Amino acid sequence: MLVIKSKNKLTEDLNKLGEDLKLGLVPTMGALHQGHASLIQRAVDENEKVVISIFVNPTQFNNKEDLDKYPKTLEADIQLISTISEDIIIFTPEVDEIYPDSIEPKIYDFEGLDKVMEGEFRDDHFNGVGTIVEQLLKVVKPTKAYFGEKDFQQLRIIQKLTKIQHIPVEIIGCEIIREDNGLAMSSRNERLSKPMRQKAAFIYETLKAAKIKFGMENALNVKDWVINEFKKSDDFQLEYFDITDVETLTPIKNKINNIKYRAFIAVYVEDVRLIDNIALN
Ligand code: PAJ
Repeated sequence: MLVIKSKNKLTEDLNKLGEDLKLGLVPTMGALHQGHASLIQRAVDENEKVVISIFVNPTQFNNKEDLDKYPKTLEADIQLISTISEDIIIFTPEVDEIYPDSIEPKIYDFEGLDKVMEGEFRDDHFNGVGTIVEQLLKVVKPTKAYFGEKDFQQLRIIQKLTKIQHIPVEIIGCEIIREDNGLAMSSRNERLSKPMRQKAAFIYETLKAAKIKFGMENALNVKDWVINEFKKSDDFQLEYFDITDVETLTPIKNKINNIKYRAFIAVYVEDVRLIDNIALN
């Protein structure tokens, strides 16, 4: 296991490996759990060398308190990574290394993908994600880079980023890993009380029921039904539920044949914001 903090040292070490090597990149913000582990395992299986970045990226947080509260668990992260493979490079830069001049995101035109759902109330969130991921892709130059469908909108935006910036890499989307009760794994789940962590299974249960309803009814009816389900419980505050086309991420009213749809949800539980999504067809 190699832990590297500087871009120059990382470039030097990667150059030694030669040009034709199959190289995988897994960008993370640390506080690793089994969801991250699944991406790392897949990267290890499909490549000759893997780089995992651990960097809590300030420009993608719209709230300073959220940034300050983000868990930093490097020792435990290294431990988890070593259970998958010892032959991994961990890149864990300081903020100055990534943002030497000012801690500002680059502004991209993601053709509207960043304006809906997670982007609607968080102006620069996806510009911040784009800024760090573009740097990582350009420094590491991986053959493949791995992102979770848990953050499906982020995954689509990274695909758009590589297209508009002409970055030659294959972006691999990996399925959502869930806790035993169906709750999508997230470092934020740790902030829930034990009973609420169990109750939060309701989110995925509702998504699965919405999927069945979507087979029989139009999108607006399904949306109304979900909103109503959440109104019945004081434990959950629904922020949004949308059914969108997977390509454009635009919310739809009616289905069209041969188009793939997905449902997206954001819910507050004990002041913790949880997101999830499900393929509908
Ligand atoms: P982070 O939240 O640490 O997530 C790193 C990667 O793990 C993302 O691609 C995310 O979608 C994936 N992931 C998280 N939970 C998952 C789960 N339950 N199942 C499958 N995949 C899961 O996403 C970020 O960091 C940052 O925005 C980043 C891309 C690193 C840029 O800063």
